[in-house]
Amino acid sequence: MRSVTAAVEADSDRLEGHRSGPLRGTAEVPGDKSISHRALIFGGLASGTTHIDGLLEGDDVLHTAAAVRSLGAEVERIGDNRWRVTGAEWRSPDAPIDCGNSGTGARLLMGAAAAYPIRATFSGDASLSSRPMERVLGPLRQMGARTEGSTLPVTVHGGKLTGISFDNVKSSAQVKTALLLAGLGAEGAVEINEDLPSRDHSENMLRAFGVDVEQDGTVVRLGRQRKLTACDVAVPRDPSSAAFPIVAALIVEGSEVELPNILINPLRTGLITTLKEMGADIEYRNVRSSGGEQVADIVARHCALRGVEVPAERAPSMIDEYPILSIAAAYATGTTVMNGLAELRVKESDRLAAVASGLRTCGVEVEEGEESLTVHGTGAAPRGGGNVAAYHDHRIAMSFLVLGLASQQPVAVDSAGMIATSFPSFVSLMRELGADIR
Ligand code: S3P
Repeated sequence: MRSVTAAVEADSDRLEGHRSGPLRGTAEVPGDKSISHRALIFGGLASGTTHIDGLLEGDDVLHTAAAVRSLGAEVERIGDNRWRVTGAEWRSPDAPIDCGNSGTGARLLMGAAAAYPIRATFSGDASLSSRPMERVLGPLRQMGARTEGSTLPVTVHGGKLTGISFDNVKSSAQVKTALLLAGLGAEGAVEINEDLPSRDHSENMLRAFGVDVEQDGTVVRLGRQRKLTACDVAVPRDPSSAAFPIVAALIVEGSEVELPNILINPLRTGLITTLKEMGADIEYRNVRSSGGEQVADIVARHCALRGVEVPAERAPSMIDEYPILSIAAAYATGTTVMNGLAELRVKESDRLAAVASGLRTCGVEVEEGEESLTVHGTGAAPRGGGNVAAYHDHRIAMSFLVLGLASQQPVAVDSAGMIATSFPSFVSLMRELGADIR
């Protein structure tokens, strides 16, 4: 297994995006991060052996692989992006579980561990240790778990849980999944209501593992059959990673990039919807179903963009894509208004503040509201030329490197090493397309 501290290919933590010639070719982005975490955890809970193909081998997911192993399952890397997981009754780990930078890993594992009569302590890096965990711990306590700490390190004492009826007002798929996983070991009804639906990979994958999961209007409910049986998982490529080469192709003159086998679950494609409203030349080819999820080959070509207003209700389906959408907005003609962004403040960084300050550094006019962001595009290439602080956030780093590919002056980004958490091949993939990233 690769080390969980595997470094990004960059020599140092600082990278620069320079104005580039046309981006051309095929971008094989890595496997979907959400589905990769779930495949390892669900495989670790199931009876039998699960084979996973296409797993994202980024630092976040590698931390989850190590965590599932320390909780008792057998987790082996058997080839490039191919893993084998044999489930077990989870046991108390010998040492605290290091979740690295990953909120998804931490929150899903806490829920899953709570279903067993075990004690597990979860820790993480500085960013993860400042992120809110009460959103999961509160409802887990309501189900009967005992917890210590409200930010990492957190200890969960699980077992003997009862059901819950929970209103998921933040539309958090992490919270929903944590409660469904805790509910697998609970007595009684487990139901989660969400008015704005969050990504449904857990529901889809739990069904594939043989669990009864019902959808009744806005309510997701666990049925009686709550035992997982091993099932092979083919992980489609990550639309949240594809977002970077897609927007790069849109803004760099003369570009045409093809991205095969991208997950196009409608609860993940708010960015594509928004970019199309902005006039983007994006095409889906060969739309098909693969392992219970919709996938397509995506083609993106350079074109003019116009500013739009993005409705707040769209936020759950593009929550991780606002930073890169803001870069597209900086190249558009007119104003783009993004609403309903409260959750951006508690991601790997305060992404609302990070994007606003980075754009200002690059000469773009922006207004940062408490829960909104407004970007004024002039239709001309932004000035660039700044040293952008990425606040140890992978998506902020990638977004501003993309901005630099078509700005008048290069854009330098710090903490680019964090890109390895979700997209370790980002720099080499972008360079192969023709991006000048140094
Ligand atoms: C994720 C859900 C989202 C998203 C995160 C992955 C998941 O977080 O931002 O990157 O895999 O369930 P929230 O559940 O906090 O909205």
